[in-house]
Amino acid sequence: MIDDRTHWNERYRSRPHPQEAAAIVREYAGLAPGRRALDVAAGNGRNALFLAAAGFTVDALDISDEGLSRFAGLSPRVRPACVDLDRFDIPRGRYDLIVNILYVNRRLFPALREGLRPGGVLIFESLLMPADPAEAAGRRLDYYLRENELLHSFLSLHLLFYREAESKGEEEPPRRLASLVGRRRRGD
Ligand SMILES: C[S@@+](CC[C@H](N)C(=O)[O-])C[C@H]1O[C@@H](n2cnc3c(N)ncnc32)[C@H](O)[C@@H]1O
Repeated sequence: MIDDRTHWNERYRSRPHPQEAAAIVREYAGLAPGRRALDVAAGNGRNALFLAAAGFTVDALDISDEGLSRFAGLSPRVRPACVDLDRFDIPRGRYDLIVNILYVNRRLFPALREGLRPGGVLIFESLLMPADPAEAAGRRLDYYLRENELLHSFLSLHLLFYREAESKGEEEPPRRLASLVGRRRRGD
């Protein structure tokens, strides 16, 4: 099977990707108690660059050197790193904010919580399994969240926002997204 780096490098070369940060990041990043952030699977850096402009220093991790090359050097506050998140260990208790947008790696779920310092905020949004299974044909099903999965996976956070809904974007057919914002409890 084609590996993640080859697959994503090819995607970044062959098609355009959104430049604007995800709406959920724009809306909720300000809830973080400090300015140290982690962007998990940072892609072309759209979310990391937004956070840097908002005053965060950002560790931006991705396996695709092609994606990372789109934003390397654009902000002194963003530190890109080419890592395989199937193997990488997120440092514990370090971040005021962790963003995980359009990426599902269940191995990392406990580490996303543990990587927050007490009071730190997780913003997680990714695709739900399509309602029509035919739409998922030929795709890796483990990339999709199941209904309520995100909610159950982060119940130990103080949830500030949770939604499962069709996206309001222009995509055809519309995508279904699960979106979560949660804060690590201060005594935790
Ligand atoms: C759909 S893109 C989302 C990018 C970004 N979060 C955004 O919102 O634009 C998924 C990203 O996951 C990255 N990725 C896939 N597998 C990975 C792995 N094993 N380790 C690190 N990054 C990976 C890809 O390179 C790609 O940039």
